[in-house]
Amino acid sequence: MDRNERIVDFPPHVMEEIRRLIAPFSLRAYPEPEAFYERLAHWLGVPREALLLSAGADGAFRMIFEAFVKPGDEVVHAVPSYGMFPVYCDLAKAVSRPVAFGEDLSLPLEKILDAITPKTKLVLLANPNQPIERVYDEAECRQLLAQCKRRGAILVMDEAYHHFCDLTAMPLLKEYGNLVVVRTFSKAFGMAGLRLGFLVSSKENVRRVEQFRPVYEAHSAALAVGGYLLKNDHLMREYVIQVKEARQFLREAIRGLQIPAYGEQGNSILVAFPREIPAAEAAAGLKKKGFLVSIPSTKPPLTNHLRITLGTLEQAQRFFAVFEEIARPAIARNEVTKQSP
Ligand SMILES: Cc1ncc(COP(=O)(O)O)c(C=O)c1O
Repeated sequence: MDRNERIVDFPPHVMEEIRRLIAPFSLRAYPEPEAFYERLAHWLGVPREALLLSAGADGAFRMIFEAFVKPGDEVVHAVPSYGMFPVYCDLAKAVSRPVAFGEDLSLPLEKILDAITPKTKLVLLANPNQPIERVYDEAECRQLLAQCKRRGAILVMDEAYHHFCDLTAMPLLKEYGNLVVVRTFSKAFGMAGLRLGFLVSSKENVRRVEQFRPVYEAHSAALAVGGYLLKNDHLMREYVIQVKEARQFLREAIRGLQIPAYGEQGNSILVAFPREIPAAEAAAGLKKKGFLVSIPSTKPPLTNHLRITLGTLEQAQRFFAVFEEIARPAIARNEVTKQSP
């Protein structure tokens, strides 16, 4: 529960069908992605030419940086967010312009809009963001796109977790030539290990990014399994329903202990662990009981927080039983402090 992947195995009959897709030919021959491009374009309802496959969302960001960012260009991104954004800024010798979440875990749109200047080349935002949840609705996306357009910048919407909330900037692609939407098969589709993602944008942008594409943008096995999962997209949808149930249960159960818990749109819950117990100690205690969780940051505003990836309701219930035990000493001390005169 520490890496925001799918944490439930596919049923045995699905695994059997997937295994059968990996024919000897698909191992020895170079990948042939065209059929998958067509299927994905149809599934998304976008033209084939608007798509570019990548090795996960991460592979798409790498190509986007190569295509659009020169040394000295400014890149605006929220912090904390996907940890590779600042790394790609450094690799591109770009000037990173982080926009930080406040102590109250909020990130007002104005803060981002103000950070976008004529020097900005790229604005990278995860929608929804993690580990601190922040979603950008259509009106906010339009404001961001308009500001980026005024400043000559590209807006990259990272929709890695989109399936867990259904928010998407995709319909705005028809109106804004400066929008790039990035998605992945790593999260709701559950194939993080096979590295498959893609970007959607104008044909011109895709052509530009394509120049930085590796010779084969996705592996044969990833294409085969991705195609299977698109054809059987009920597997993804059923998983999303399970995650949403687990999300509601765990968030409310932890809040019931008077511990702040956040998470309404993604596949994880962020917990502000009671100060009396260091998050590292809590994580170690949970690990001993068989639950891996992540400490997403140690910098303000996340000084004692845990991030817990969600799967089924039953997993969340088992997790909560252990979590409650570990948090209890801190809760008990709080109760005593509250009651003392
Ligand atoms: C917000 C966000 N974007 C992108 C990614 C990268 O996903 P992928 O596995 O597709 O590279 C992650 C991975 O955790 C993420 O949290």
